[in-house]
Amino acid sequence: MYHDADMEKWIENKISAMTLDEKIGFIHGAALFKNKGIDRLGIQPLVMSDGPCGVRFDHKDDEWVQVDEPMCYVSWLPSGAAMASTWNEDIAARLGEVLGNEACGRGKQVILAPGINIVRTPLCGRNFEYMSEDPCLAGKMAAAEIQGVQSQNVAVCVKHFALNNQEKERMKVDVRVDERTLHELYLPAFKTAVEEGGAYSVMCSYNKINGLYASENPKLLNDILKEQWGYDGVVISDWGAVHSTAAVALAGTDLEMSVTNNFDEYFFADALKEAVRAGDIAEDVIDDKVARILRLQKRIRLYDGERNKGGYNLPEHHTVMLDAAREGVVLLKNERGILPLNADKCETIAVIGDAAVRKLAHGGGSSEIKPLFEITPLMGINMVTGSRTVVKYAKGYYVDNEEHVVGEVDWQANSLDAPADRTGDTAGVQGEGNDNEASGTDQADNDNSGCVDKISCEEKPGCADKISNGEETGSIEKLRRQYLEEAVALARECDAVIYVGGLNRAYDTEGFDRTSYELPYKQAEVINALLAANPNTVVSILSGSAVDMSAFEKNAPAILWNSMNGMQAGLALAEVIFGDVNPSGKLPVSFPFRLSDCPAHGIGEYPGTYDGDGGITCSYSEGIYVGYRHYSTRNIDVLFPFGHGLSYTTFEYGNIKAVKCKDEDAFEVTFEITNTGSVFGKETAEVYVSAHDPVIDRPALELKGFKKVGLEPGECRSVTIKLDRNAFAYYSVSDGTFRADSGKYTISAGRSVKDLRVSCDVIL
Ligand code: BGC
Repeated sequence: MYHDADMEKWIENKISAMTLDEKIGFIHGAALFKNKGIDRLGIQPLVMSDGPCGVRFDHKDDEWVQVDEPMCYVSWLPSGAAMASTWNEDIAARLGEVLGNEACGRGKQVILAPGINIVRTPLCGRNFEYMSEDPCLAGKMAAAEIQGVQSQNVAVCVKHFALNNQEKERMKVDVRVDERTLHELYLPAFKTAVEEGGAYSVMCSYNKINGLYASENPKLLNDILKEQWGYDGVVISDWGAVHSTAAVALAGTDLEMSVTNNFDEYFFADALKEAVRAGDIAEDVIDDKVARILRLQKRIRLYDGERNKGGYNLPEHHTVMLDAAREGVVLLKNERGILPLNADKCETIAVIGDAAVRKLAHGGGSSEIKPLFEITPLMGINMVTGSRTVVKYAKGYYVDNEEHVVGEVDWQANSLDAPADRTGDTAGVQGEGNDNEASGTDQADNDNSGCVDKISCEEKPGCADKISNGEETGSIEKLRRQYLEEAVALARECDAVIYVGGLNRAYDTEGFDRTSYELPYKQAEVINALLAANPNTVVSILSGSAVDMSAFEKNAPAILWNSMNGMQAGLALAEVIFGDVNPSGKLPVSFPFRLSDCPAHGIGEYPGTYDGDGGITCSYSEGIYVGYRHYSTRNIDVLFPFGHGLSYTTFEYGNIKAVKCKDEDAFEVTFEITNTGSVFGKETAEVYVSAHDPVIDRPALELKGFKKVGLEPGECRSVTIKLDRNAFAYYSVSDGTFRADSGKYTISAGRSVKDLRVSCDVIL
């Protein structure tokens, strides 16, 4: 990161003018999203806001109660997973610019985004916020987004550093990870975010890593982040992730934030002041923390009168949302050329599924926002078909856990308490021997069977408590039948059917993991019934994570998928379905056939093992073999592979060559892509590296670069991707660093990890 001597001098002067009290006030929360500024020195409080999907609405300083309601409406961005599905760094940068501009416009200095933890299990409720199972994709997309945000004079806060790969027991799970896996899989995206993105702040996570909480882990924060990566930005604790004073202060956490309003009792408040006074902690340690926060504020030009003004909900922001949403839609399957649908030939279309009408921006935890508008799939389909087609709607499936779907208003006040599961539907209830269910020993949770709040269970159908009651189960079953029959009848009478289902905010949410890989609400049954009723049925699944589609995939001629895709999601989806936009999204994660194929579950290391004293340990003993690194190396078939995504046109690859760069240990890999179909299309070329005869065990393929290009019919483009020495390296535990062995490597380029089209060998 650049260092400016004048800036450092300014910081030094400010610090030398501060009292210890003032310094202490500056390094812990004095409000839910602010520290304490120092008026007499003209130092402003650091003002922060969630999150990755847009600027969250404001809360009172000391209560989780919303304020300024009319001013809080902003643009709703596609989530991290949706952004990663575009595989387009320009889109990530443009989304970042909007996020930064809106944060500035809303008076924020730090936006608590992006989230870039590696997707280790499809059950993690927060996968929608994260980007990928692959550190190259996550790192590059994040770096582009970060530069976009920070170009607007707003700091990012990259989260959650590190190994926060599940929500279940996130406050206490002790992740046991070996050195190689840590450095090769879980840290690289953060490293890219810091080194290439230039992130001004990083959020340390709730969980423990090899026995120590992330916030008090000197190896993670001091040694790796600050020393090895040369990071001079701020480490902000996740809200309530600090559990002690001296250990945390000395480990490298700079600013303590939490969800409670007893600000003077924070570990970095009076207790830290006392520790400094007693000589247990040197004042330099505090000064360094203050300096880092001031540096961030200087970097966003807070004190030089040159800072952006920003703005939010500007029409040009909504254009970026639409461009991004269009590229985030992934076409997984398209037989018989059923897609795109021709609106002129469909007099009647049945749109079926709760997800077609459900709004999703509000809910899901700290990434919730209030969007100015949110176009649902049903709205989008009507907008695109206009008067050409009669669109009829049926719900299709019954949502029996509505109270969790809409999101609780002030959930965050209690967010440090261990939450129970929130599934209300029978599909999510654990069943013995069911391959779809989460593995792992479970003991301490679930004493209230899936309801956050017992009182609401008494009143509302759908809580797990009630499911056990025969009468209630009977009435839910009746509703299910009724919804199914209505949907099937509608499907029969229409020319085509668009099913829109998947997950919702009860499942794509912070604080909870799913308990099943299956689609909830018995959707597989509904989808199969619709496919039997009308062969012209298009299935569109909306989910933040991989979901089980194996029960209907063979029967469905066309399947689309997208993650939470922002305020224009429904319009973008409709444009793809009717061919106004040619799909170009690709999967940022693998979709395994079954949960037990996923290594964390296959080895029984999710959610971890309870120790009898309320502690839980999760050993990442699958090592670096996560996602496609596992499936492609062990030849395990998946339903849809990493990087997969179809188009309405066809692409051919050819003429690959790798040329060694002059005076540099790097190769330029060049190949051609031709659009061999009849419509314009965008294609992301994915470049993978494999080592011949590696000296240590290595994945069969690793993504090392990608590039998206747009091609007119018949157009041929040459694509060049540079691979430096790191692209061939693994983490050598004995060297304590990355190492690229001499030898032969194959470089392949293609459409997905399972559809590589061209390759060549190089000698390193
Ligand atoms: C989440 C963070 C979020 C913070 C502040 C925590 O619960 O884990 O991602 O930024 O709250 O709302």
